[in-house]
Amino acid sequence: MRDRGIIVGGLILFLGLITFPVWYNVTAGSTAKGPEPKRPEQEKTCVAPVGYMRTSHMDLLMDWRDEVVRRHNRKFTAYDGKSYTIGLTQTCMKCHTSKADFCDRCHNYAGVAPTCWDCHIDPKLVQRSTG
Ligand code: HEC
Ligand code: HEC
Ligand code: HEC
Repeated sequence: MRDRGIIVGGLILFLGLITFPVWYNVTAGSTAKGPEPKRPEQEKTCVAPVGYMRTSHMDLLMDWRDEVVRRHNRKFTAYDGKSYTIGLTQTCMKCHTSKADFCDRCHNYAGVAPTCWDCHIDPKLVQRSTG
């Protein structure tokens, strides 16, 4: 029974150590959460299933670009039969209205910086610059 204090103390120390990452995040004001892009509130579905969009939206964008630039086709029929006009600014950004709160949140988190915006328009910036 003399060891009881040591055992209890050891257990407390052990618990403190294995939960350290949690405490560390809480006290540092950060969490283990992802980038949390702000999803559209008005719309329910994307132009492709959300799982595909999350991992492969860049492939879809390249297909869209090729359709327009190489095949002169601006019509896209989605998996659910809905029809969209192909367009990064025109269509993607109509639902995902904020590049900063949507695209950039993930891209900053993942450390990617697509150069599309050198030529394509971020609707928010246009609103700002035209007052
Ligand atoms: C009609 C509105 C609409 C259009 C157009 C649209 N999206 Fe979406 N998008 C959504 C909605 C709504 C969700 C969330 C769907 C869900 O939660 O099931 C979403 C999800 C996503 C996601 C996953 C986000 C996450 O939190 O994991 C990505 C990436 C994305 N869209 C990119 C795009 C791109 C790129 C385009 C243009 C090619 C586009 N979207 C066009 C409405 C749209
Ligand atoms: C759910 C998180 C998420 C959202 C939201 C998101 N992206 Fe991405 N995007 C990524 C990740 C992660 C990569 C890098 C993938 C890789 O390198 O394999 C990426 C890569 C890209 C690329 C390719 C860049 C390159 O250098 O190869 C393009 C283009 C792109 N995203 C466009 C968009 C656009 C436009 C939006 C907003 C409409 C958007 N993404 C929203 C996570 C996201
Ligand atoms: C050097 C300038 C430039 C850059 C950089 C660029 N684009 Fe484009 N893109 C164009 C031009 C020009 C067109 C043709 C516009 C038209 O005919 O409507 C186009 C068309 C497109 C289209 C179809 C039409 C539309 O309005 O959206 C998509 C989608 C597209 N680009 C996606 C991308 C993506 C994704 C990136 C970044 C990975 C990118 N582009 C980078 C110049 C550029």
